[in-house]
Amino acid sequence: MKAISIPQFGGPDALVLADVDTPTARAGEVLVRVAAAGVNRADLLQREGHYPPPAGESEVPGLEVSGVVEALGEGVDGWAVGDEVCALLAGGGYAEMVRVPAGQLLPVPEGVSMVDAAALPEVVCTVWSNVFLVANLQPGETLLVHGGSSGIGTMAIQLAQQVAAHVIVTAGSAAKLEACRELGAEVLVNYREEDFVERVAEATDGHGADVILDLIGAKYLSRNVAALATSGRLVIIGMQGGTRGELDIAALMAKRGAVISTSLRARPTGEKATIVAAVREHVWPLIASGRVQPIVHSRHPLAQAAAAHRELEAGDHVGKILLTTG
Ligand SMILES: NC(=O)c1ccc[n+]([C@@H]2O[C@H](COP(=O)([O-])OP(=O)(O)OC[C@H]3O[C@@H](n4cnc5c(N)ncnc54)[C@H](OP(=O)(O)O)[C@@H]3O)[C@@H](O)[C@H]2O)c1
Repeated sequence: MKAISIPQFGGPDALVLADVDTPTARAGEVLVRVAAAGVNRADLLQREGHYPPPAGESEVPGLEVSGVVEALGEGVDGWAVGDEVCALLAGGGYAEMVRVPAGQLLPVPEGVSMVDAAALPEVVCTVWSNVFLVANLQPGETLLVHGGSSGIGTMAIQLAQQVAAHVIVTAGSAAKLEACRELGAEVLVNYREEDFVERVAEATDGHGADVILDLIGAKYLSRNVAALATSGRLVIIGMQGGTRGELDIAALMAKRGAVISTSLRARPTGEKATIVAAVREHVWPLIASGRVQPIVHSRHPLAQAAAAHRELEAGDHVGKILLTTG
């Protein structure tokens, strides 16, 4: 089969379409014929050699796909050859075929095209597990989402709105902020021109953000703690602003706050299956009813994966960038 390989780490042109062995489904897995794969920021790091796949996983990049079940491994129940699915992966998605632990499969939601379903697994599982299962966002609370127009951000805004939480976003341009507003964000902060700590305080009458979903890390650590409400939960899922910051424990303690950080890719398959099951129960009906939608910025053929990576790196996108095999 064809798949993207990385013979030498480097820039976007390190991504090469190659002939590789077709995987086979092991016990408890299914083989999926891929229709589309989502492009994630983590794929850029893997391409550069900074984010190796977990032990035993495919060297082919790609953390999520949509497609059709081609074959079932031993002991798989509840799925049949020909089912239209999307899936969360530890790797291997930039390919014509990928093997997936059965617990990480989801049906293509009603009303969503097979290709666009590839935009869902990684962002929905990341947002649901962090904002709801970990940070326990409640109706009426305020969620601050950094990078509101990112793949992750566009899903966080929509899901928070569904539980009647108030959403404040940061983004780097007026056009991106407008896209966030259309998705349901109430307070828009251009981080290049304004201080989000001041804007959060002003918008919440000094209360602060009950939950912060952060992808910047070190650079925002002290300001995020300053923006937290009493009993607030700061969840750090990205390190775009570095890994080593200074935490003022007195400031955090005064707020009885929590700082939590998680990574989806490295979780054991059992934990991923639990998250996927929760997403299927709580989020899939919202998507099937049209209240929550995949936000797709662009679709590129698999052979042009380099162009897709350039587009993600340029950072002008709103939502997800996809690779298609068709
Ligand atoms: N831990 C996990 O399990 C997990 C899982 C999935 C994703 N992630 C992380 O989540 C993040 C988003 O992923 P993605 O695939 O959705 O990436 P993406 O679409 O490329 O989004 C990156 C975003 O970062 C924003 N940004 C950059 N500098 C910023 C700043 N100083 N303040 C606020 N926003 C800023 C960009 O907005 P502007 O262009 O406006 O600057 C852009 O929207 C990445 O860091 C990724 O690694 C983590």
